[in-house]
Amino acid sequence: MAGFSVSDSTAERIGYITRTQSFSACHRLHSIHLSDEENKRVYGKCNNPNGHGHNYKVEVTVRGKEVIMIPLDHKHLDIDVPYFARVVSTTENVAVYIWDNMVKVLPSNLLYEIKIHETDKNVVIYRGE
Ligand code: NI
Repeated sequence: MAGFSVSDSTAERIGYITRTQSFSACHRLHSIHLSDEENKRVYGKCNNPNGHGHNYKVEVTVRGKEVIMIPLDHKHLDIDVPYFARVVSTTENVAVYIWDNMVKVLPSNLLYEIKIHETDKNVVIYRGE
């Protein structure tokens, strides 16, 4: 999906391209900084030792057209992605991870927003702040 919007002012029109991509991955919410009991209390059923899967939908908005490759598809985030060995794989943290990787390949002022649909009801937005 590509979206394009302009401001009302003709003097300053900025276009945004949003690209939507999907990836499927499993994970477990479990902090190495908490006890097993605390993890169960904080993360509930998402702390299930066997993990669970999502079909994530990611929207990346840039001021221009970019091809986006995401090294997360069909991975176990906690095991296959070194970043999540020490960072809990909440969708918020997945958004930060994608942001940090995108700014490595995009000029720093182009990346505007990372939006992840973890489920139909859970959407996370990160703008690098
Ligand atoms: Ni989850």
